[in-house]
Amino acid sequence: MRKPIIAGNWKMNGSRSSIKELLDGVKAGMGDVKSAEVAVCAPAIYLADVSEQLSGSDVAWGGQNLSTEASGAFTGEISADMLLDFNSKFVIVGHSERRTLYGETDELVAEKFEVARKAGLTPILCIGESLEERESGVTNDVCGRQINAVIERSGVEALADGVIAYEPIWAIGTGKTATPEMAQETHASIRKMIAEKDAAVADKVRIQYGGSMNAGNAAELLAMEDIDGGLIGGASLKAEDFLAICKAAG
Ligand code: PGA
Repeated sequence: MRKPIIAGNWKMNGSRSSIKELLDGVKAGMGDVKSAEVAVCAPAIYLADVSEQLSGSDVAWGGQNLSTEASGAFTGEISADMLLDFNSKFVIVGHSERRTLYGETDELVAEKFEVARKAGLTPILCIGESLEERESGVTNDVCGRQINAVIERSGVEALADGVIAYEPIWAIGTGKTATPEMAQETHASIRKMIAEKDAAVADKVRIQYGGSMNAGNAAELLAMEDIDGGLIGGASLKAEDFLAICKAAG
């Protein structure tokens, strides 16, 4: 049985005071979350506050990106060790916003996955197709290519140390969610592609769905066999909504 994992991706949102309020709310409701693993991925500048507020709670935390470099003259970058210095457990790699707005390639994302994993962080590897790609029927090819970059660099076993987040780009922040059947179909294909290389890894790796998951649609998405959690953007910014999704996961 894969333990469901719900992670909030706050993106570039929040302030010290709004984050305090949000986390107070999340912590207060965690008693009703029975089995899901819960985490929030915060803007790096707030990790000190987040770690202070969440240590000792059942909510883990992490970053939204990391550098492939360990240290040095890389202005504006954040290293794996810096994330670990604030006891981060997770880091998102290859979010579609980083791929499309900041030109991150499959190879760079695979390197970030490797650096994070080797440092002891759990990388959340985001994959997913654009609307154009879905409409031209290449969803599985795109997801396969994005995962294969990681497999080629680190080996298929490495996937088991991370989490995969399937996020169709057309569903992110748009209010357009993939139907549970559509998401399940892609999740199953992703798992099958991995199983062709290593059945045990495919069985173990958790695949989150991301893209306008909210309090209203989470339960039916999370009920699908191959959907092992969610990566939540907009709905993770309100404690009540985020908690409702965590509860729906079990
Ligand atoms: P959304 O974002 O839930 O706001 O669609 C998800 C994500 O980008 O991780």
